[in-house]
Amino acid sequence: MLSAEIDLSGRRVVITGGGQGVGRGLALAFGAAGAEVLVNDLRAERSRAVVDEISARGGAAVSVPFDVTDYGSVTEALTASEPVDILINNAGNAGAEGFAGRGRFAETEPADWESFLRVNLYGVLHCTRAVLPGMVFNEWGRILTIVSDAGRTGDPGGAVYGASKAGAAGLTRSVALENGRFGITANNISLGTMRTPLTEPLWAEQADSPQAKAILANYAIRRPGVPDDLTYLAVMLASDHGSWITGQTICVNGGYSLTL
Ligand SMILES: NC(=O)c1ccc[n+]([C@@H]2O[C@H](COP(=O)([O-])OP(=O)(O)OC[C@H]3O[C@@H](n4cnc5c(N)ncnc54)[C@H](O)[C@@H]3O)[C@@H](O)[C@H]2O)c1
Repeated sequence: MLSAEIDLSGRRVVITGGGQGVGRGLALAFGAAGAEVLVNDLRAERSRAVVDEISARGGAAVSVPFDVTDYGSVTEALTASEPVDILINNAGNAGAEGFAGRGRFAETEPADWESFLRVNLYGVLHCTRAVLPGMVFNEWGRILTIVSDAGRTGDPGGAVYGASKAGAAGLTRSVALENGRFGITANNISLGTMRTPLTEPLWAEQADSPQAKAILANYAIRRPGVPDDLTYLAVMLASDHGSWITGQTICVNGGYSLTL
């Protein structure tokens, strides 16, 4: 039956990189839906601030700072107490300088690739591996991985970022196939260009620049996305209403590159 609200009370969700941007938006949404939110971030002050926001709104949240690239810290944090019901792999690295840090693949060196792969691929491997046994035991679980159209369509200037996101998206499909019989779903949400702290300099200072206009020219809806553009979808996929949706990559991208 259709009801206006989705109730996730009794569910524990961990959101990696939940301290700002998309992750913060997801953390607030899951808190509002009644889940107990484990807000992860590399930067503890960020995850604590989001926990305070959720608590101020009457939700339940706890800060779990760890580095998703460190498997030991991930397993310690995610297997220490009750199993996690919902994992949102959101922590990402798009390059230290965001849009400014882009370059042609042929001009990069192996040392440039590591930070993308470690956060965007290994981070997802680590967190997914850590939570799966508990989900299998409970015969219920939801895994959502935030990927990027850079990995779906290709991204001149962001090849390694795109490759790392495509790798994570591929993992989702295998995890979905292996674990559907345990009541576990795994899906990707593929984002187009968002307005978050990562990209804020572009939109705040250069919204009328040729670069910003060129980016938006590829979008049917000519604005960058905001976290609330995906929060309802994420909460639905993570609920019982999402139990027959698995292995999918769902685009939340304002109609970016519709012909692809
Ligand atoms: N912003 C965009 O335009 C855009 C587009 C497509 C996809 N995405 C993806 O969406 C996700 C969120 O993006 P955002 O714009 O909110 O990013 P952001 O950089 O604003 O926030 C990411 C958060 O992750 C944390 N983090 C980084 N590395 C970490 C690690 N090793 N361990 C734990 N936490 C870590 C950061 O401290 C930060 O708080 C990312 O996976 C990103 O690749 C973003």
